[in-house]
Amino acid sequence: MESAVLKGQSIYRRVRETGINPNYWYPVSWAAQLKPGEIIPVSVWQQNIAIYRDHAGQVFALEDACPHKGVELHKGEVHGSHLTCPYHGWEFKGSGECVHIPYFPRDQKLPCAQARSYPIQEKYGILWVFPGDPALADQHPLPQIPEYDAKEWFMVRIPGEFQAHFSICNENTMDVFHGFLHKELQGWFDPILLGLKQTEADVYADYQVSYQGVLTKLMGLGKTGNGVTTRTVSIHYQYPHYHSSLEGVSSLYLMRLPIGPTLTRSFSMLFLKLPLPSWLLQGKLGKLLEKGVLHQIFLKFLHQDVEMMESEQRNYTANPQRNYVEVNPAIIALQRVIIGQYEKFMQQSDRSLNPPTAVASDRNFELVQDSKCR
Ligand code: FES
Ligand SMILES: [Fe+2]
Repeated sequence: MESAVLKGQSIYRRVRETGINPNYWYPVSWAAQLKPGEIIPVSVWQQNIAIYRDHAGQVFALEDACPHKGVELHKGEVHGSHLTCPYHGWEFKGSGECVHIPYFPRDQKLPCAQARSYPIQEKYGILWVFPGDPALADQHPLPQIPEYDAKEWFMVRIPGEFQAHFSICNENTMDVFHGFLHKELQGWFDPILLGLKQTEADVYADYQVSYQGVLTKLMGLGKTGNGVTTRTVSIHYQYPHYHSSLEGVSSLYLMRLPIGPTLTRSFSMLFLKLPLPSWLLQGKLGKLLEKGVLHQIFLKFLHQDVEMMESEQRNYTANPQRNYVEVNPAIIALQRVIIGQYEKFMQQSDRSLNPPTAVASDRNFELVQDSKCR
């Protein structure tokens, strides 16, 4: 969609029709789910990508379409550090270059066949892909997760999938006023927005919230869990991901993967300080706590959220022209950032398609040269 078209619509409709700015790192899989010699298909905003791990453990990402006839490369095989297409056995390096065709005589020159390759990296137990301009990958670092390597924090990983546009999912996280939904689970109550700041790529929002019951015990907020505890939740949306912290008691990272206009995945990492020694938590007990107890508790919250988000999406899809009433300024700030980031990307793409200077033309020429085959 052109940015000029977006400008004429209400902010609500604009944000629901907004694409991503691909010039950021997006999580595509938990790292442990890709074993050496395996290939899996992933999608980042409708770009289908085959990611594979070679036998030495290194990961690569190639567009999931063989340059020969378009067969999906994730159906192929890993040979050494190369990916082999299942159809005619053409072999590709991690850079996407075709380096072998099994039925060609040794001295026959290979055709110019290049699969697009994507920058990929493994960090925090997650595989991250940069779906935009590879030249910009170094300028956009991954989110920082200092708790990941700190012993005092206990990590709970929570995967999520939502049949909803990524803006709906992101608004759910910024929207602390929906504690009403989780009342049966003894979530939080009496929210107050204390402060709000917005930049080109961030929204910082501080909310005061009160807890009583299950969550107070679980997060060590109160000794008995019977009294009311009032705390500040600091939410930082750093496009395109989230970090939310509760006064150093818990820390939640929500890494978002927009797959398509109505499908979003989330890689969530919740860090808690549990009143148990870390050596005990590293063993079987830790696994049991993560999968058997904490995971189940937080999945209950997540399921309630998913139901709301998908309900919101269904009504939007059925009638995109309908107006709704938003009253939380933090949500409006978030919508502005999401739209602004998309428009920024569209403007950058316009510039690279119509280079204003000779310098830019030269750069485009170099890119073509780079992608040429031997
Ligand atoms: S389609 Fe991939 S080798 Fe022919
Ligand atoms: Fe929720």
